[in-house]
Amino acid sequence: MLSAPPLQSPVLPTLESASAVMDTYARFPLSLVRGKGVWVWDSEGRRYLDGVAGIAVCTLGHSDPVLRRNLCHQLGTLQHVSNLYRIPEQEALARAITSRSCADRVFFCNSGAEANEAAIKLARKHGHLVRGIERPLILTAEASFHGRTLAAVTATGQPRYHAGFEPMVEGFRYFPYNDIAAFEALLAECEAEGPRVAAVLLEPLQGEGGVNPGDPAFFRRLRQLCDERQILLILDEVQVGVGRSGHWWGHQRLGIEPDAFTLAKGLGGGIPIGALAVKASADHLRPGEHASTFGGNPFACRAGLTVIQEIERRQLLDHVNAMAELLQGLLASMVERHPQLLEGCRGWGLLQGLVLREGAPSAPELVKVALEEKLLLVPAGARVVRFVPPLVIRPKHLRKAVKRLERALERLA
Ligand SMILES: Cc1ncc(COP(=O)(O)O)c(C=O)c1O
Repeated sequence: MLSAPPLQSPVLPTLESASAVMDTYARFPLSLVRGKGVWVWDSEGRRYLDGVAGIAVCTLGHSDPVLRRNLCHQLGTLQHVSNLYRIPEQEALARAITSRSCADRVFFCNSGAEANEAAIKLARKHGHLVRGIERPLILTAEASFHGRTLAAVTATGQPRYHAGFEPMVEGFRYFPYNDIAAFEALLAECEAEGPRVAAVLLEPLQGEGGVNPGDPAFFRRLRQLCDERQILLILDEVQVGVGRSGHWWGHQRLGIEPDAFTLAKGLGGGIPIGALAVKASADHLRPGEHASTFGGNPFACRAGLTVIQEIERRQLLDHVNAMAELLQGLLASMVERHPQLLEGCRGWGLLQGLVLREGAPSAPELVKVALEEKLLLVPAGARVVRFVPPLVIRPKHLRKAVKRLERALERLA
């Protein structure tokens, strides 16, 4: 019998050596090589408190023992087959999502942008099929973020992400987030000569755009307007879904049900997975109309299932709400101590933003100095520092994090 080959650890280049990786990210000169819970270590052995969690991805923290065990088991059983066949792990994860939400069916893919691409195709099909529109429009918000593929980046209402990639995909129009009068005016303009709008695609809370929570009154009225015209209301829950808001889904905080919503990031706890969840009334995609080779493979779905089961077993929704209250209190008292630098804080659950005043150091500057204080954070635009830690973070970590952040702010000031 052949003995197993020895474990191979990859030969890691030093940071000084020229990179063969394309230069598409402005990276910190730092390699993170190991993690445990809410802590990560760099290649020099320095330890950091992780307030980023891979940008709202590592729901259960790093190297979680249950996720590790379940994924090792899945690797030893079956990693990948194909959507040519029924996949029990995929069926189970779809059921885990639909039994906790207003959705009836789920399509799986590999990322947030890909989930939104599926939603955009669904919207266009709905426009043709249900509203009889030849060239359907999708309305999205200014300051939104929906991903980097061509349609998802067109849906993103921030011109800086379009620059250099024109022509953009046709059929998108934008309005100011949370502004019902502006939405009604745009809808009236688009539909002046008959049905044109297939869907509205919005984040329940704008993450990348500056941690702007949705206004429940706006979303309630929007829901009514969409119902009146059979326009799909699709929510991008890629950043805020899967427990981060303190509810399973961000739209539960808004008190409305969407026709469809997209997921990714936190669903896999670090394993790439994306999903489009739809109500039966919006289940328009038929065999052959949409697909993904890797989408919903047994390994990724085992990760998603484990994340959902562990959120439930460890009662992480209650925990997120308790931690959010503590974090908001800590940030609010920091704002009181530095009124000339800080404007306030806002957010839901463990997605909180600290807002810097005009003239104060910028969010990227503060994030850079926080890193020197061994705290990982991520900006959301120029003036907001975002806190999106693993959902398992504990009070002592939050206190430590805010102390480090305040030290960084004082150093900069
Ligand atoms: C709300 C939202 N939608 C979509 C995306 C894109 O997700 P991905 O990077 O997985 O394509 C992001 C990523 O930040 C996001 O925050």
